[in-house]
Parts: sequence; C-alpha cells; structure tokens
Amino acid sequence: MSASVSPSPLHVAIVMDGNGRWASKRFLPRLAGHKQGVDTLKRIVRACPPRNIATLTVFAFSSENWNRPADEVSGLMDLLAGALAREVSQLKQEGVRLRFVGSRSGLSEKVRQGLHLAELETSSNTGLTLNVCFNYGGRWDIVQAARALAERGEDITEDSLSSAMALSPSADPDLFIRTGGEYRISNFLLWQSAYAEFFFSPVLWPDFSEIDLDTALTEFNSRERRFGKTSEQVR
Ligand code: IPE
Ligand code: IPE
Ligand code: MG
Repeated sequence: MSASVSPSPLHVAIVMDGNGRWASKRFLPRLAGHKQGVDTLKRIVRACPPRNIATLTVFAFSSENWNRPADEVSGLMDLLAGALAREVSQLKQEGVRLRFVGSRSGLSEKVRQGLHLAELETSSNTGLTLNVCFNYGGRWDIVQAARALAERGEDITEDSLSSAMALSPSADPDLFIRTGGEYRISNFLLWQSAYAEFFFSPVLWPDFSEIDLDTALTEFNSRERRFGKTSEQVR
C-alpha cells in the first residue's frame, strides 16, 4: 500500500501488545516475544516520516507491569538498556527525537542514566518525535500533573493540567492503535485520548507490519472527527 496515505494523523499512539502470545505460540520464552517486539518498533519508527506522522507515542511498560514475574520484569529492563545502547546513535542520525514518558522511580540507576543520555543526545533533532512510555500509567500521569500544579500554587484548569502532563509538549494523539486483539486502554493515555480515534488490531505486535499500519491510517482517514459538533458543522 501507499506510503503517502493523506491526510495522516500527526500523532499516533500505540499499545504494543501481544509479545507474550507471539512467543508462546512458538514455544519460546516470553522474552523472545519482547525482543521481536523491539524489531517491530524499529520498523514502525522508520515507517512514520514517509507517512507524515510527526509524533509516535508507544506504550512499552505500564505501571502495572511491575506485577509480572520478576524475571520478565528484569528481562524487560535489560532489553530497554540494551536497545538504547545499540540504537540511539542510528536514531540520532535519522533525526528522531527520543523522549521517555513515565515515572523514573523504581528504575535502576543504569536504566535512568540510559534514558537521560538518549534524551540528551537526540534533543536537538527535529524529525519524528518518539515518546516511549515506560513505567507509565494514565492515572499516575493525572495525579503527578495535579500535584505539580498544587505544589506551584497554580490554578487547575484543563489547559494547565494538559501542560503539566508527562506527554506535554506533545499534543493529544489523533489515532490510538492497540495491537494484540484486546479491546481496552489498560491505563494508557487516559487524559490525552479524550478525542482520539481508536483502532484495534488483532495482529500480535511482533507481527505488526507497515501494511497493518496503513490499514489503520486508511481507517483513520475514513472517520469523521466531530469533537461534539454535528456532521453538518464539520463538513
Ligand atoms: C506487551 O506484550 C508488552 C508489555 C506489556 C511489556 P505482552 O507481554 O503483554 O504480550 P501478551 O499480551 O502477554 O501476549
Ligand atoms: C498494556 O499491555 C501495556 C503495554 C503494552 C506496555 P498489558 O498486556 O499489560 O495489558 P493488560 O494487562 O492485558 O490489560
Ligand atoms: Mg498483554
């Protein structure tokens, strides 16, 4: 399918789900699915600029994923540290601006340092903004934003809360994709997806391809976003 589906959503958010089932189907350990998922992410990141997607926000590790078996959690932490060590210089060359969105507490010093360096090294890039939500939860985000405003003695309004959210200054996502066949948000961008278009794909994340992305974009382009107005008003 074409790489220039137009008009594209400027901001796409993805719940990258299905790694564990992808591995189980192959009698592999769950971590093998997570590794394959990193390769999928690399492909999808590269597919964004030609499709006019300016911001890609992905859910990599949720506040609730700490409740998984300890070896899976530590495997995911190692995978993140390894991926950063391997991929950042290439992403930097490609103009990608990396940001990590989520709580830093509970992360090891090594992982925190890796996140910090990756952000620093790509901070002046002006190509795709890649927000990696790691140790992120939508409820955590709303609470930390409200607390920050309260501590600064600022008024709580929709605008002030939006700017205090961890995803800021990225705008709200236009298209919210969840792979892996589940129909739920799982505490992803609760505040920011108020008016996102949702697309649920049965494809397990390690198998998610550029063609699947184009299917979601085509579907997005066929939707009418009304933001509370009538169809006649927005046409
Ligand atoms: C998503 O894949 C990745 C993370 C949550 C870290 P899962 O690991 O949830 O895969 P399934 O849902 O068990 O197949
Ligand atoms: C959501 O997937 C989190 C990520 C993809 C990082 P989960 O697999 O954790 O969600 P649930 O538990 O099925 O709702
Ligand atoms: Mg899952």
